[in-house]
Amino acid sequence: MELLDKLQWRYATKAMNGETVPQEKIDRILEAARLAPTSSGLQPFEIMVVTNQKLKDKIKDVAWNQSVVSDCSHLLVFAAWDTYTEDRINYMFDLTNEIRGFKNEGWENYRKQLLSTYPFKEEEVNFEHAARQAYIAFGMAIAAAAFEKVDTTPMEGFDTAAVDQILGLREKGLRSAILLPVGMRAPEEDWLESLTKVRKSTEKMVTVLD
Ligand SMILES: Cc1cc2nc3c(=O)[nH]c(=O)nc-3n(C[C@H](O)[C@H](O)[C@H](O)COP(=O)(O)O)c2cc1C
Repeated sequence: MELLDKLQWRYATKAMNGETVPQEKIDRILEAARLAPTSSGLQPFEIMVVTNQKLKDKIKDVAWNQSVVSDCSHLLVFAAWDTYTEDRINYMFDLTNEIRGFKNEGWENYRKQLLSTYPFKEEEVNFEHAARQAYIAFGMAIAAAAFEKVDTTPMEGFDTAAVDQILGLREKGLRSAILLPVGMRAPEEDWLESLTKVRKSTEKMVTVLD
């Protein structure tokens, strides 16, 4: 099946059957998220992989009672940095130098530019920027899961402060941005499974300027 066929196959699954997704598939989904592009390559987020049933149930309670949070195989919590700090910026620039094995003046000037601006912005502005980067990885994970014929439910419908508290995210300098239950659909219990996908036309979305 081509990627586009798989993206047609996927949908925001409303009921999952509790089946465990093989670890190698989960690993490839997480790897796709890790390979996502991010602004300045800072990757300003982490992914919590929740398989503990009690934790999943607690999170369901603060996620509009959406059953897939409990019935998924793995619950991915995309948690963005609460702000940009000098240490966090330096870590990624140092890592780049270490992996590539050289220092570059242009890159070092760019580091200085970020260090002289990002840490001085409002925390909320920085968190929102970091969360936008997490959404890119989130999209990649959704596509990768579809490629693996694994279901997902993109989910913003939850109490972020409550999830932060359940997972102790604020202590780690993180804030929950978005949830992704990953699992296998339960078609007989899912009102959405048989419905036709609805998208606006390409003409409505895309403007070509030759
Ligand atoms: C950022 C985001 C947040 C969403 N939050 C929820 C949610 O909390 N619960 C839910 O059932 N679906 C949620 N959805 C699913 C959308 O409603 C769904 O993707 C959209 O209607 C398109 O349908 P499809 O994904 O089935 O093709 C969310 C989707 C996105 C991208």
